[in-house]
Amino acid sequence: MSLKRQNWIRRSVILLLLPGFSLAESMSDRDERMAWWREARFGMFIHWGVYATPAGEWNGTPVKGASEWIQCKGEIPLKEYEPLKDVFNPVRYDADEWVRLAKNAGMKYIVITSKHHDGFCLWDSAHTEWDIASTPYRKDLLKPLAEACRKHDVKLCFYHSIMDWNHPDYGVKKPWRGNFNNPSPDMEAYTAYMKAQLKELLTNYGDLGVLWFDGEWEEAWTHERGEDLDDFLRTIQPSLIINNRIDKGRKGMKGMNKDGDFRGDFGTPEQEILHEGLPGVDWESCMTMNTSWGYKAVDHNWKSTQQLIRNLVDIASKGGNYLLNVGPTAEGLIPDPSIERLMEMGEWMAVNGESIHGTSAGPLPELEWGRCTMRKTGNTTVLYLHVFDWPENGRLAVPGLRVDNDAAVEAFLMATAKNLDVSAGDFGLVVEVETQAPDPVDSVIRLRLSGSCQIEGSP
Ligand code: GLC
Repeated sequence: MSLKRQNWIRRSVILLLLPGFSLAESMSDRDERMAWWREARFGMFIHWGVYATPAGEWNGTPVKGASEWIQCKGEIPLKEYEPLKDVFNPVRYDADEWVRLAKNAGMKYIVITSKHHDGFCLWDSAHTEWDIASTPYRKDLLKPLAEACRKHDVKLCFYHSIMDWNHPDYGVKKPWRGNFNNPSPDMEAYTAYMKAQLKELLTNYGDLGVLWFDGEWEEAWTHERGEDLDDFLRTIQPSLIINNRIDKGRKGMKGMNKDGDFRGDFGTPEQEILHEGLPGVDWESCMTMNTSWGYKAVDHNWKSTQQLIRNLVDIASKGGNYLLNVGPTAEGLIPDPSIERLMEMGEWMAVNGESIHGTSAGPLPELEWGRCTMRKTGNTTVLYLHVFDWPENGRLAVPGLRVDNDAAVEAFLMATAKNLDVSAGDFGLVVEVETQAPDPVDSVIRLRLSGSCQIEGSP
């Protein structure tokens, strides 16, 4: 019997045995499971591991394009890489401070690398010595984060690499691993190891929000293995949300799935934003603040706060989530430029957060001056007009929006908490505004429409 068929039978049996589980998840069950994630819109990615010590340089020489990839890009043999565990000692790590930073920025979830491609584990795993318990620090790094997340009502999520440069049974040899390469790696054994570790992560840290897989692209990982792992995880925590990198459906860095029956709840565009939203399709853009995921001392290529806020808005206006990365140092500090930007984003979110959280893609087509997000409740539609380029003539034209005479329209400028006048123009609605932008990054106008209105855009 094929592995696929065996898995299908196993899955069916497991699902039938689980109370309340039907063979296929209904649309409404899925909506319920995805609800917090869709409302969140904004999360923090944390890439952290022993690679933060070399911070992009090996023996005093920069390794091109490397931070968390330094072992592979620098072709560093295991016997030279593994001693990093003898010096990794993040004594300045303060999980509570990290979570407060994320929360104050308006982020609703944190995805931290429990294990990256180098295989090093941030928790004390019973299944390997290549973990935090073998460092001078010794203490589990995920436990305090889980506690702080619970305390501040932020969802805890783990990024977990399928590819593993340390485990002898991981099925792809690398020339630079030298003698360590196992002549006959056993992917069954490696998969069992992964499952045992994931079980630790799913049973010792409370309910997790997302499991975020990566490193699925090598041939050792197959569609059948992805399906089997997905079934296994969902029997432990049925409410889990899992990204599409658990399976083999992802199309390159654009991150969305090709046609076919692939596992995964959402697409994962990497370092890019979709040109347009896809109705009914969940996606999340993960992006760095500078160029690197892991800490890299010489990477000063920081994006401006304006860019970061506009990315968040652009993504939300297309119905996606923004997973914005920080790469803490080996001491356990989030770099200052990241902190500054997150605090500035938090100031903007404190005023404008309702135009992001719980909103969906805006119905107006590409707007010359900015973007639009939407919230619908009953007979009321709220459109948030995000104005990046403020109209110098004091008249903001909203093309394609027509409101019937009996409909009520209220316009409110969030930065100044002032009501604005609205009139009907030739091509749509016109909002009368002051001539100076109250917020040069993005001034948000909340348009509340009750009654019937027509929107000549695509949803
Ligand atoms: C890539 C990289 C990895 C990073 C990830 C984030 O696939 O391999 O280093 O963690 O993207 O999406």
